[in-house]
Order: sequence, then C-alpha cells, then structure tokens
Amino acid sequence: MTRNDILREMGLGPVWRLRTATPATPVAEVAAASTAAAEHLPQNVPAGEPVAPAIAPAAMDWDELAAAVAACRQCRLGETRKQAVLGVGDRHADWLFVGEGPGAEEDERGEPFVGQAGKLLDSMLAAIGLKRGNDVYIANAVKCRPPGNRTPEPEEAAACWPYLERQIELIRPKLIVALGRPAAQTLLQTEVKIAAARGRLHDYRGIPLIVTYHPAYLLRTLPDKALAWEDLCFMKRTMQASRAG
Ligand code: SF4
Ligand code: URA
Repeated sequence: MTRNDILREMGLGPVWRLRTATPATPVAEVAAASTAAAEHLPQNVPAGEPVAPAIAPAAMDWDELAAAVAACRQCRLGETRKQAVLGVGDRHADWLFVGEGPGAEEDERGEPFVGQAGKLLDSMLAAIGLKRGNDVYIANAVKCRPPGNRTPEPEEAAACWPYLERQIELIRPKLIVALGRPAAQTLLQTEVKIAAARGRLHDYRGIPLIVTYHPAYLLRTLPDKALAWEDLCFMKRTMQASRAG
C-alpha cells in the first residue's frame, strides 16, 4: 500500500500540493519575545536514580547529545521507554519541526514521526516541497515515549528541555514549526491555544516560530486540515522572506 492509498483510506486524499492561490494573509506579527533564557531552565525531577550527564547539554556536540539522550533517566519517561528518540534529519537544516513525543512506533524504531501521524507530516512536508532529512530536522519536545501516548507532563517536558534547546543551538534553523500545543508551550514557555497562536509569527530567541496543529490531531479533525493548509502556506512565505532578508 502506498502512502497515498493509506491517506485516501483515511479520507485525507492524495499528497497535498501547494495551490497557487494564497489564502487570506494572516496578520504577521511578532509575538512578545520569548521570555528570558532562565525561564527555560528545567527543574530536574528525580526519577529513581537519575543519571546526570557528565557535561551539561548546553556544552554537548551531536555525538555527546546522542549518547546522553540514549542513556538519559532525568525523568520517569526514561523508565518505560524502549529507546529514546533524539530526532532525525539534516543537522544544518533551515527547517525545524518539533512534535510532542515518540509514540509506540517511534519508540520501536528510534525515529520521530514514523507512524500514521508521521505519514501525514511527510505529506505536509511534501506539500511545501520538503522532504524528511533534506534541509529539514524533526525532533520532539520529549525524547522518550509517554506510556499509553499520554501528553507529557510539564515536569517531563522541563526535564527534557535542555536537549531540545541544545539541538536548536546546533542546528540554527531559519524557522521553527511547533506541531501542537505541548511543543508550542515548551518552546514559547507560555500557555498556548493553537487556534489563537496559529497564523502569527512568534519568536524563539530571534528565530521565527510558527505554531500549527499536530498531525495526529488533524487525522482526527478533518475540518481543521484547511487551516493547517493555510499554515503551510504561511510557513513557506515566512521562509522565503527569511531567506530574502
Ligand atoms: Fe531524559 Fe527526556 Fe527521556 Fe526524560 S524524556 S528520560 S529527560 S531523554
Ligand atoms: N507524535 C509526535 O508528536 N511525535 C512523534 O515522533 C510521533 C508522533
């Protein structure tokens, strides 16, 4: 079965293509600059016997980061995961997509977004001319699967934050896309409602950030697919402007 067959079966139609007509231009405004770096600091939650990395994530290179995440027990998700999922893609990508956390298939395979939501994400990427691994990096707010695919707890996201923070520093993307509420809240350090936060340009330490629906939500809520489509067009325009400027 091809990806298009699967999407068709789910009522999602073929791979999305970018239409030439642009939707109503969302009001581009830079939201209040993200709060001070200090507010991103995690409260390390004891989880059995947490294994503190020998050096801080903020000083790690990619190999050290990968090793630290693979061995991490900084929160309780480390106790139930099969494997931690660092992220995948081009480590110098202009585009960074951030999801919530690994699901069952990601936990098995060690790669983000490889299940049904991942197939939709790949279609969304294709719609704006992107391909996994090619100028795109995909990561999650938490690196270990929450049991039963529950939403990560704030303290779990906080414990895991230094890894994503370091990934962003190393990648230095030109645009960050937060997929869903947990990713948006982790990155923006504030309560987020997707309906209110989408269609606007946010800022993460000087990097433009766009919030959109999580693909797993779109699989359940087809009417919002049209809004996600607008968000994709907005992302594309924002990247073009960012490259031009
Ligand atoms: Fe460590 Fe993050 Fe996994 Fe928690 S979710 S154990 S902080 S890698
Ligand atoms: N959902 C996510 O948020 N991340 C994944 O990696 C898979 C599903």
